[in-house]
Amino acid sequence: MRLLQLPLKDNPYSIHIGSGLLNDSSLLKSYCDGDNVLFVTNETIAPIYLDRVKNSVAGKNIHQVIIADGEVYKSRESFFKIIDYLVEHGFRRNDTLIALGGGVIGDLSGFAAASYQRGMNLVQIPTSLLSQVDSSVGGKTAINHQQGKNLVGAFYQPSAVIIDVDTLDTLPDREYFSGFGEIIKYALLGEASIKRLLSSQIDKLFERDRKTLIELIYLSCQMKSEIVAKDEKEKGERALLNLGHTFAHALETLTEYKHYLHGEAVAIGIMMALSLSKIKNLIDSQKVEEYQQLLEKLKLPVNIQRKLSVDAFLAVMTKDKKNQSKALRLVLVKQDRCILKEEPNTQLVADVIQEFTA
Ligand code: NAD
Ligand code: GLY
Repeated sequence: MRLLQLPLKDNPYSIHIGSGLLNDSSLLKSYCDGDNVLFVTNETIAPIYLDRVKNSVAGKNIHQVIIADGEVYKSRESFFKIIDYLVEHGFRRNDTLIALGGGVIGDLSGFAAASYQRGMNLVQIPTSLLSQVDSSVGGKTAINHQQGKNLVGAFYQPSAVIIDVDTLDTLPDREYFSGFGEIIKYALLGEASIKRLLSSQIDKLFERDRKTLIELIYLSCQMKSEIVAKDEKEKGERALLNLGHTFAHALETLTEYKHYLHGEAVAIGIMMALSLSKIKNLIDSQKVEEYQQLLEKLKLPVNIQRKLSVDAFLAVMTKDKKNQSKALRLVLVKQDRCILKEEPNTQLVADVIQEFTA
């Protein structure tokens, strides 16, 4: 097992990464305060993993809330389903909510845990690759609003993250590769060891080799932890973790979360950010091609391939949380690092959207 510490001043916590962790009867229990434990998971994950994790907290009063599967259920209705359950069953602040699932369950449950009695004990057990390398770490929690993704949420840190790579065995292929959208982001942010691993161990990654996955998840969580430790509430550097995301969130919103998985939208968003960076002479075309090939090798889309209104796309982008004024704030790639820049020239961004949607 690999162990990482996220060294936050007020709330440091451990990230456990390994194989067989869900069968460990002492690990999860050691993070469960209070007498009551509420598992929040979804209809797909519950039949595969819920009994196993319930066994590992035997002796506690065990409860469950099962949400339907899908991004559209990262909603106010699901949020109140969890809150109502906690209220009706008299949960206290020191009782534990365990998020068992991908990023949708993690974000939704995290926001419920943050809100119930102003914050109850939370443990994240991410089961998708995307949630293991990104969403379960760092405390961003949210639900979607019909006007945009993650518009309602809170920064709320868990007391631990337990990542069992064995859960990836049951993850459908398309979901598995979607996780690489966020991993490639770390490579572009300057983590050379991730880029090396992606390029040299692609066969092992296709086989879902546990040892290679543990290393990749460890490197990804390490990079994210370092950034979050310096800037927990996204006052500066953490915004770089949103590389490609302003484009991606607009794409997901406009297509009503039906056509692209989050990691796929991020892959396209990264290509759009690379394209804009090239137009602004921050990188050369070789870099764009290199990452396009890497994304394609990992079965990720690099183009939108459908007609969308450029104006509507831009309108959603202007609602992005990173914007501080009317100008768009975007993460761009500059040689071997990323930078956050205000883009006053909306026409340049419109040209990129046009290029990708045509
Ligand atoms: P998801 O939660 O929808 O999970 C993907 C699919 O895989 C679902 O159908 C799910 O039921 C299924 N699944 C998950 N684990 C499984 C397993 N082990 N076996 C079989 N099926 C499994 O999507 P996701 O890609 O995990 O997460 C995307 C969400 O994460 C988005 O809402 C995104 O906004 C959010 N996100 C948040 C952050 C953050 O910092 N909080 C970062 C990145 C993404
Ligand atoms: N996924 C971006 C962040 O956690 O800041």
